[in-house]
Amino acid sequence: MSAQETNKTIENKVKHLLSQMTLEEKVGQMTQVDITAIGNIEKLHGRAEELIDPAKLEDAVLKHHVGSILNTPFSPNNEAQSIETWHVLTRTVQDAATRTRLKIPVIYGIDAIHGATYTQNAVLFPQAINMAATFNADLAFKEGEITAREVRVSGLQWNFSTVMDIGRQPLWPRLWETFGEDVHLATVMGTSYIKGHQGDDFSAADKLPTCLKHYVGYSYPLNGRDRTPAWIGERMLREYFLPTFEAGVKAGSPTVMVNSAEVDGIPGHANHHYLTTILRGEIGFKGFTVSDWADIERLYTRDKMAASPKEAVKIAVMAGIDMSMVPFDFSFYDLLVDLVKSGEVPMSRIDEAVSRILTVKYQAGLFEPKPLLPMEGNFATAEAIETNRQAARESIVLAKNDHNILPLKKDANILVTGPTANLLSVLNGGWTITWQGAAEELYPQEKLTVLEAIQEKSTGKVTFVGGNAFDAPIDIQKVVDEAKSHDVILLSLGEHPYTETPGNIETLNLDQAQIDLANAAIATGKPVILLTLGGRPRIITSIAERASAVILGFLPGMEGGEAIADILYGDYNPNGKLPISYPRNTNGITPYDYKPIESFETNIYDPLYPFGHGLSYTTFETSGLKVEKSQISMGENITVSVNVKNTGSLKGKEAVLVYINDVAAAVTRPNKQLKGFKKVELAPGQTESLSFTLTPHDLSFIGVDLKRIVEPGDFTVMVGNETVGFTVTK
Ligand code: GLC
Repeated sequence: MSAQETNKTIENKVKHLLSQMTLEEKVGQMTQVDITAIGNIEKLHGRAEELIDPAKLEDAVLKHHVGSILNTPFSPNNEAQSIETWHVLTRTVQDAATRTRLKIPVIYGIDAIHGATYTQNAVLFPQAINMAATFNADLAFKEGEITAREVRVSGLQWNFSTVMDIGRQPLWPRLWETFGEDVHLATVMGTSYIKGHQGDDFSAADKLPTCLKHYVGYSYPLNGRDRTPAWIGERMLREYFLPTFEAGVKAGSPTVMVNSAEVDGIPGHANHHYLTTILRGEIGFKGFTVSDWADIERLYTRDKMAASPKEAVKIAVMAGIDMSMVPFDFSFYDLLVDLVKSGEVPMSRIDEAVSRILTVKYQAGLFEPKPLLPMEGNFATAEAIETNRQAARESIVLAKNDHNILPLKKDANILVTGPTANLLSVLNGGWTITWQGAAEELYPQEKLTVLEAIQEKSTGKVTFVGGNAFDAPIDIQKVVDEAKSHDVILLSLGEHPYTETPGNIETLNLDQAQIDLANAAIATGKPVILLTLGGRPRIITSIAERASAVILGFLPGMEGGEAIADILYGDYNPNGKLPISYPRNTNGITPYDYKPIESFETNIYDPLYPFGHGLSYTTFETSGLKVEKSQISMGENITVSVNVKNTGSLKGKEAVLVYINDVAAAVTRPNKQLKGFKKVELAPGQTESLSFTLTPHDLSFIGVDLKRIVEPGDFTVMVGNETVGFTVTK
């Protein structure tokens, strides 16, 4: 059956089912509750069969017709469950759905943002900021494939991933959940993940629907604190924050989760212009929107926009919210039934929302569930783990390597110290086994910390001075004493895991304890290799300037310890590049695509390390940059070609980045914008010629009237230290 026929069939099925549904059954489909609402909380560590309270389950699914459940047992101390437990939980919920009048399946949603977060022993990838640093779309595709398979094998049916927000505010505690500051990079990585995750048909036994989040403008709070106002005008929103969502919709993601905060004075959950006029009218999104956590009631309890909980429901549903993540009770259900009965919300709006939800349930195959794939061969396979290790290796950025102190010889005597040297949680960050990712005791102990990976690989003396928790005090005097008998110090600094508002901070500066430790290590006179781990670029300037080498690890995932050791000892040649500008100072939040006014007179773009920065153990040179024509007419593509050569003595990978600048336009244009990248592996002396096609969309921008346009005029193409120009004529 063709896709068109399938869609027609589904459309008819939805219409038929809708015609049989009562108002209550329809509103139930728009209601999503957390598993806590149907859970036996005191049984968290009991038998799987006892985790769900039968009476609460009946109340939710049969009495309130709830159409979706989310999360792992039990908020706020969510914990990863075994596959066997997930099978019991999801089967229990679906069995309840089969006892309803119309037997509409419940769709079970989970956050699986870097692998199957909440399934024990799943393959947990580098976080998005690291995946972006690989500049390798194929790895994002594979991550999507493996994540979907392992979530599906768990019995779950919907993944609240991937984040399509742009990470341009380094203080924001969810920066690491984004693919960085650049629209093109985030678009390519996000859509590759979606395509791997959904395939051509996300009803397949190893695929499932994704969710674009958090629509829109959530990631740029003025003060850097999560869930605070973003002061983004509509032109900047359309230029920087909407394009990734447009691309995600085009890539076929069928659900969108809404921004928990407010943009330009309007809460995301109340913004009809964004949720309906733009998302539906302009972008043509056909799937369904889901609120974020408790964000409809927050229009009343927090934003003081609604005069009552009932008005909050009316505002949100009429703005364009199709499903409410309530999450703990049936207030949304009760209020919306009343609103329809009183005529304040038309049945047509309910039918529209429910049709969208049922359509996605049909598309996901929930009405004709396929048998779950067996764990064997589909979960935590050796191949998937190797893919994860490769992603970790390619995600790590070698930012400094004075006198080629790296790679180390295996027999080097190394002193390892610092709060992130001997923990697994600091490699993974939030949304790992638990919501905040900080339950070190729940991490799979067979995975290696940075220290353990070094101990495995080294044939020299390895001494660790540190504690077994992030805040454990470190005996600085012992570091100084031990340094005498070692060749080099690995100083592992950074952040403990976090996500969302618990991760809010007041400054990007490191805490004083880490600064004191760093100063003491440097004062020993031994070469210091600075390694940072964590979700944000903490200020390391004074340490980095005195260190011999700097490795920016961010959150490389469960194989990150081994990947870092591979790079330290030269078993892997690093090739990660920064997907964000690494600030020199805590207020250094200027992105690489800054406007001309930001580099005028005393204003300068002066990061510690710029976007796209990353060293290798070999060297590469680009040359011969040219464009196929010096002039094109409006609407034409133009091909750019460039050679890249490995001019060093080691095989290595290199991402070649192509930037453009629109020389003059009616709206000020960034000094440069990334419009293409390709990653190649070259042997010493090998040269490869690369070509890129720039489309009119690549040359476009959001004009004065908020429409996307291309203006005739001069453009400059930049690759490496070469530039070449071309002109667009009318
Ligand atoms: C959280 C997050 C969102 C997540 C959702 C469900 O508040 O903002 O990213 O998908 O709730 O856990």
